[in-house]
Amino acid sequence: MDNSIIYLDNAATSFPKPREVLEKMVEAYARLGVSPGRGGYDLATEAAELVFQTRQKLARFFCAPDPERVIFTANATDALNILIQGLIRPGDHVVSTRLEHNSVLRPLYHLREQGWIEYDLVPFDGKGYVDPQEIKRVIRPNTRLVIVCHASNVLGTVQPVAEIAGICRECGIPLLLDAAQSAGHLPINMSGWGIGAIAFTGHKALLGPSGIGGLILSPELDVRATRFGGTGIESRSLVHTQSFPHRLEAGTLNLAGIFGLSAGLDYLEQKGSGQLQQREMALIRRLYQGLSSVPGVAIYSPPPTEQSVPVLTCNIKGMDSGDVGDILDGDYGIAVRTGLHCAPFVHVDLGTDATGAVRFSPGPFNTNEDIDRAIEALAAIAAYR
Ligand code: ALA
Repeated sequence: MDNSIIYLDNAATSFPKPREVLEKMVEAYARLGVSPGRGGYDLATEAAELVFQTRQKLARFFCAPDPERVIFTANATDALNILIQGLIRPGDHVVSTRLEHNSVLRPLYHLREQGWIEYDLVPFDGKGYVDPQEIKRVIRPNTRLVIVCHASNVLGTVQPVAEIAGICRECGIPLLLDAAQSAGHLPINMSGWGIGAIAFTGHKALLGPSGIGGLILSPELDVRATRFGGTGIESRSLVHTQSFPHRLEAGTLNLAGIFGLSAGLDYLEQKGSGQLQQREMALIRRLYQGLSSVPGVAIYSPPPTEQSVPVLTCNIKGMDSGDVGDILDGDYGIAVRTGLHCAPFVHVDLGTDATGAVRFSPGPFNTNEDIDRAIEALAAIAAYR
């Protein structure tokens, strides 16, 4: 990595990637860069086997019962769209929250504009948590789906998913968990919690490359295909393959992405994802404590707990977040994400929709020194505002 940069934007994408991930991608692709599941020759069979092993690893990682129901997608947005558009029918109602990312808000808005659905977005409290009883309150007889972001990409708060999933189960409605910001940080127990579907991306805390993500379905969930094409099987039929995972995977898979994601999972297992998470949360606590005593800094994330993800969002009072980000980058070599973080309602409710906010998100390769530099930089900017 370029040592002149202090990269604190791991909630956007983790960087740098572990060397093991890069090496596995190059080595595996150099030897095995053929189309998995499309040919009968040995290399194609081996590639298909490695793809299946990655589905198995992911099923284990998320405590999902069936690796055939691990669908590879381009990213979390893609996975959310496949599920939302493949499940919802005209006349349905959907429940979600005001913490959501545009990856949920925009597909729902689109379907509402088409006249297909109505939806309710449940508020979050002053600390960034959704009350599961609020979700229960707005469920209707025609509610088809509940969608909740596990961890907020703005506040770092983590929702009580097991409780929300319990309410959904009582009502017979599947819960779609947006795990974009939590997968890799926190354990996710699909079977134990009774989650209907999980959407995740490979390039954040799973430490894989961009362009690969997934959708995991519980055994009882029936999702229509909304994209059709080659699957490598049943080629005589013009009807798209119905069996999973092919039903939701049309076209050649992102093999290098799958290799990289597989290596990211191995890295997490080898280092201990819990240990990495504790380390990153220690960095966030250091940042929180440091910034708490800087005059002129307003912190929006609640104090970090064991049940948070390593994200801290703040502002320098009276300054636009974009200007702060430009100074951090230009004068201090610190990379952060500013603005609305694709989660507009969070900022409306925080009162930061005009200025945006400055988000710090450390990753596995950051150090205490990086955090101290960030605190000093914000203190200096705040002093001259
Ligand atoms: N959703 C990503 C973020 O929060 C890109 O930055």
